Amino acid sequence: MTSRRSTLAAAALLAALTGAWSSPRHLPGEEIAYPTGYRLWTHVKSEIIGPEHPAFPRFGGIHHVYANQPAMTGYRAGRFPQGSVIVFDVLQAEQRDGRTFGTRRRVVDVMVKDSIRFGATGGWGFEEFRGDSRTERSAPELMRGCAGCHQRAPHDMVFSDFPD
Ligand code: HEC
Repeated sequence: MTSRRSTLAAAALLAALTGAWSSPRHLPGEEIAYPTGYRLWTHVKSEIIGPEHPAFPRFGGIHHVYANQPAMTGYRAGRFPQGSVIVFDVLQAEQRDGRTFGTRRRVVDVMVKDSIRFGATGGWGFEEFRGDSRTERSAPELMRGCAGCHQRAPHDMVFSDFPD
């Protein structure tokens, strides 16, 4: 515990000195893992974001939201327990013959609930994987807005609902 606390203090000092504190991604060594197998989790919802929407340049297309078991408890309770993981899976959308369907994967966005590791950002850690890659992550400047916007969400920083 003591060594963990001093590691955190050292990381915070390093972040303050380098200015990294202003980018609330996560402290060094606290990388968020790729959510292996999320396509088999509970499907919460899907939505299409079209060119008229302000989020189109970044999140335009069709997205699906998936939740692991602890996150499903959270959707019901309105507060998400430790270990909750939610995935926002964004695909480009194409229209043909009256069908709208997903094609190339744009990003896989992830939220992980761990109030100790991610206490600075409301208990949630945020990560974004590029395309189909499980290792290529978005640049820190693209991660800056995640927690700020999610702070406005109605249920413990989560926007989506799970309609039973
Ligand atoms: C400008 C606001 C905004 C920003 C910035 C933003 N999001 Fe979201 N996010 C949303 C909204 C709104 C939804 C709900 C979409 C839906 O209901 O289909 C959402 C949904 C999600 C979800 C599914 C859980 C939920 O809240 O419904 C995850 C996971 C997620 N975003 C991760 C991220 C990550 C990671 C980043 C940063 C790379 C990010 N978001 C940046 C607004 C934002």
